[in-house]
Amino acid sequence: MKTSQHLIEFYNNYDEDNRLEPKHGMVEFFTTMRYIQQYLKSGERVLEVGAGTGRYSHALARQGYIVDAVELVEHNIEVFRKNTQENERITVHQGNALDLSAFPDNQYDITLVLGPLYHLYTIDEKRQAIREAIRVTKLGGIIFAAYVISDGCLLDEGFRRNNINVMKYIQMGLLDSETFAAKSKPQDLFELVRKEDVDELMSVFPTTRLHYVATDGLALMMREVIDRMDEEMFELFLKYHYVTCERSDFVGVTSHALDIFKNKKKS
Ligand SMILES: C[S@@+](CC[C@H](N)C(=O)[O-])C[C@H]1O[C@@H](n2cnc3c(N)ncnc32)[C@H](O)[C@@H]1O
Repeated sequence: MKTSQHLIEFYNNYDEDNRLEPKHGMVEFFTTMRYIQQYLKSGERVLEVGAGTGRYSHALARQGYIVDAVELVEHNIEVFRKNTQENERITVHQGNALDLSAFPDNQYDITLVLGPLYHLYTIDEKRQAIREAIRVTKLGGIIFAAYVISDGCLLDEGFRRNNINVMKYIQMGLLDSETFAAKSKPQDLFELVRKEDVDELMSVFPTTRLHYVATDGLALMMREVIDRMDEEMFELFLKYHYVTCERSDFVGVTSHALDIFKNKKKS
């Protein structure tokens, strides 16, 4: 399994550790943590696959949960280790979401896959990552899988901020000129999907969906406004976001989505 050089270079030069720091990034963090805490019970075990610098892993370990983390990129692991506090029951291993053979079957109450599916480009690879997450999760355990959603990304990074040149992407065949569906390749770094792609991906697994969440909703699109909010307004915005983030009319335009499902039996 060859680690994509594009991926290593990107994370070597990207401040992943501070991605969720500004208020508009906190929306994703708070929302994900809120759902994790809905299911996690005292003393339970968590595996985070693609843990990055450990924002979620460390937060959960500091709350007393037992956390194992897997991360592909050495640079992120170094920052992860620096961020580890003495009282945390946490481990971090270099590894790939496609092969979790270092971990036995049926071991974790919750498995987080918040990142690897942004960087896997074929349905077979994505299914392999999900299959591995299911394998290591206890029967009845919960899996959280995060995706980058193409329309939210295209509206924000494309039409609004021009980080993605929509016309050029169409010319390069990276966006369908009729449907605007994305067709990413490894050198584009991020695999952009729609909910219908997630539904197709998941159709082969014996799992039950508990929630499908617009993790950051329109927060990235409104980033300047959200970053200027005072605490009172931000609290109100979060309250609004939490009651709307599972609405079917929001999940198509979010930047990130979270598929939360229960492991019914082994695949
Ligand atoms: C956007 S970051 C997310 C980090 C963290 N999970 C979070 O949500 O804040 C994605 C992470 O997944 C890692 N990653 C990408 N593909 C992976 C794979 N196949 N196996 C393990 N980690 C992977 C990247 O190196 C990166 O650290």
